[in-house]
Formats: sequence, C-alpha cells, structure tokens
Amino acid sequence: MNIGVPRERTGGERRVAASPDTVKKLVAAGHQVVVEAGAGAGACFPDGDYRDAGATLAEGPKAAVGAADVVLRVRPPLRGIGRAPDELALLREGAVLIGLLAPYQDPEALTAYASRRLTAFALELLPRITRTQAMDALSSQANLAGYKAMLAGAASLGRAFPMMMTAAGTLVPARVLVMGAGVAGLQAIATARRLGAIVSATDVRPATKEQVESLGARFLMVDDEEARSAEAAGGYAREMSAEFQRKQAALVLEALRSIDVVITTAQVPGRRAPVLLTEEMVAEMRPGAVVVDLAVETGGNCVLSKPDEIIEAHGVTIIGYTNWPSRVATDASSLYARNLLHFLTLLVDKETRQIRIDANDEVVRATLLTRDGAVVHPSFTDEKELSRAGGR
Ligand code: NAI
Repeated sequence: MNIGVPRERTGGERRVAASPDTVKKLVAAGHQVVVEAGAGAGACFPDGDYRDAGATLAEGPKAAVGAADVVLRVRPPLRGIGRAPDELALLREGAVLIGLLAPYQDPEALTAYASRRLTAFALELLPRITRTQAMDALSSQANLAGYKAMLAGAASLGRAFPMMMTAAGTLVPARVLVMGAGVAGLQAIATARRLGAIVSATDVRPATKEQVESLGARFLMVDDEEARSAEAAGGYAREMSAEFQRKQAALVLEALRSIDVVITTAQVPGRRAPVLLTEEMVAEMRPGAVVVDLAVETGGNCVLSKPDEIIEAHGVTIIGYTNWPSRVATDASSLYARNLLHFLTLLVDKETRQIRIDANDEVVRATLLTRDGAVVHPSFTDEKELSRAGGR
C-alpha cells in the first residue's frame, strides 16, 4: 500500500504520525511510505532519517497524501474553514484515514469524511482491552501529558519539591494534589513522588484507590454508596450526582488549604469535564500555589482556567495549556507512531497486504466512523447522540 504522512498543520501541533522507526517497519512489511518534507521537524525527526528508513520524501501535503491508500495523522485534516487550508480535499476518494479524529468535538467532520468516501478511524474510540494496549494512543499520550504537566507545576512553584536539610535550615516537602487518577493522573503522581513531594489524589472510581496508594500517595474520597458504584462500562467514570460532587468538594476544600500544586485531569468521555475547582476553592489556596488544568480543552476542571493561557487569580497561578503531548513531541510521536503501526497491522490482511475491514471485529466496530460514503459509527448515526455531540 501507499501510506502517506503529512506535516500536521493544526496550530501548535509538533507531533507527527510516523517516526523513522515505524517507517522502517512499514517499508519492511512491503509498503511504500511517503512522508511530507519537514513533517518530523517539530518532533526532531530530520527528513534524512525518514529517507534512511526507506520513506519517499514529498514536497507539500498534496504530494504526500494525494495518492495514498492510507493516510496516517495525529489531528483531523483541516477542512478549509476560516483561514485554515483544506487538507481533507487533498485526500484521494476512498482512502483510509487514521488518527485522533476527535469525533465528539467536531461531529460535522464525519459527514465531510463520508462525502469524500473515506474509511475513517478515530483512534480515541479504541476499546481499552488487553488486545488493544499497544494501540492505545489515549494512554500513550496521556502518560506523557501527566508527566510534563507535573514538571510544569513544579517549575512554576516558588518552592522546592523535596525535603531539604541544609545548614541554613530544613525545607519541608511540597504538597501535591492530583484530581483524576487515570493514566495522566497516575503518571503525575509518580512524577511528583520521584521529585520528593507529598502527594494525595482523588478520583470517582474506587478502583483507583489501590493504584494511587501503590504509588505512595494518599487517596482522598467520600466514602458512600454512589462512590462505590461509580465505575461505568469500559472502566471509565460516569457523571456523578450533584450531592456527591458537593460532599467531595467539601473534602477537597479542606485539603486544598495546604496544597502547593494541583494537577487536574478529570474527564468523562464525550462530555464536558466536571468542575472540581471553583473560584471560592482557588481563593482558599496558599499564595504562590499552582493549578495545572489538563482538562481545559473539554471545558476545564477549574472554572478559572483559560485555554493556552497562564493566569493568576487570588495569588494562585493557573496553567491552562492544551496539547501537553505536543510539549514532549519526540517521545509522544514515537509512541503514537507505534500505536498507529499496531492498529494498522490489525487492519492489514497478511496475505494481500491490503486493508481488509472486518466489521465483526469489536476494535474495528468501535473505531470506524465512516465507510462507503456513510457515517457508520453507532454513536453518530443515532439522532439523539448526534444532537448531544453537536451541543458540546
Ligand atoms: P479519563 O482521561 O477519561 O479521565 C481521567 C480520570 O478522571 C479518570 O480516572 C476518571 O475516573 C476521573 N474522573 C472523572 N470524573 C471525575 C470527578 N468528578 N472527580 C475526580 N475524578 C474524576 O481516563 P483515562 O486516563 O483515559 O482512563 C480511563 C480508564 O481506562 C481507567 O479505568 C483506566 O484504568 C482504563 N484503562 C484501561 C486500559 C486497558 O485495559 N487496556 C488502558 C488504559 C486505561
């Protein structure tokens, strides 16, 4: 197959969907890989490394993807809205498109993919089962996001993280609170612990208690019936009642008064992020404290955080950067490219070396958005789901 890898043109995106390492493997598997010149620059993969790995370098996006059977991307193709270029128009009709296509954020894109007769796969919809671990881009990227966010929190704080016994006196360790102990949160906890902080964490899924404690952090959670049944299908969180959220907020408020850095990562798939830090709570925090809101792209866990801005409120610094994986672009791209390689391996027939869509495979069914000119994913064919997605 001809596999095209364009340079990402979404603002601020430094990642790339193939690394020299994955290009080598794709070429060894008998495919032709065309990489747009400069595609790896943001991730520090020079063009020469792709060439050495066996890729053909193409000047411009059309040459990279115009003849591709499969297009590998990080972000959805831009559609010529406003001043953005129309990357979608460059794709060959009937091509396979694989990436983090953010279907819930932009459901209209699905209609556009269908009208171009693309076979589009959204990697974030992958079921999180043992078989898909190597393809799990949400995990590979969230892990690095949690790490980098914790470092940013530490760097912004006017205190040291570890306890330090010096001739001039002893410094107490910093106190960190991680809200949402999923993949990003657990890595944030581990990173803060390595830096020597005292860490506590919250989550609505009781199953995370053990994971949090195994990393040497304290679990902070209301212990009631609702909390004990908070895990929904697939291991994700469900939306909690107002009563639960009020009780949990009171518990957190008490803890916040002595916290130096808060990292919030709480998400509920397909919905607005839950509000966990109100302005009143921020006002209770110590002067100089730092909040890093990793959920800012889905509305934010802190009411004050602003996308891609660092603001100060009540003496607290609130970091609202989006796209943390792009801030660790080399490693994020390496892992993401491997995720794609594994996903592609699942789709390719070993004999013919062509894509063979097995609609009976639960992984294919969960990720396939459009095929043969139609939107086929059940979450986006159902009218109710569509209006819910559109209203987000
Ligand atoms: P996510 O990014 O959807 O959410 C982050 C965390 O926020 C979750 O732990 C969630 O429970 C928590 N959260 C939601 N609402 C909250 C609230 N109101 N207050 C506090 N915390 C709240 O989650 P992520 O990191 O994508 O992981 C989701 C699940 O998938 C986890 O159970 C994880 O263990 C599981 N998983 C399974 C894998 C596998 O078996 N292959 C691989 C990776 C993750």
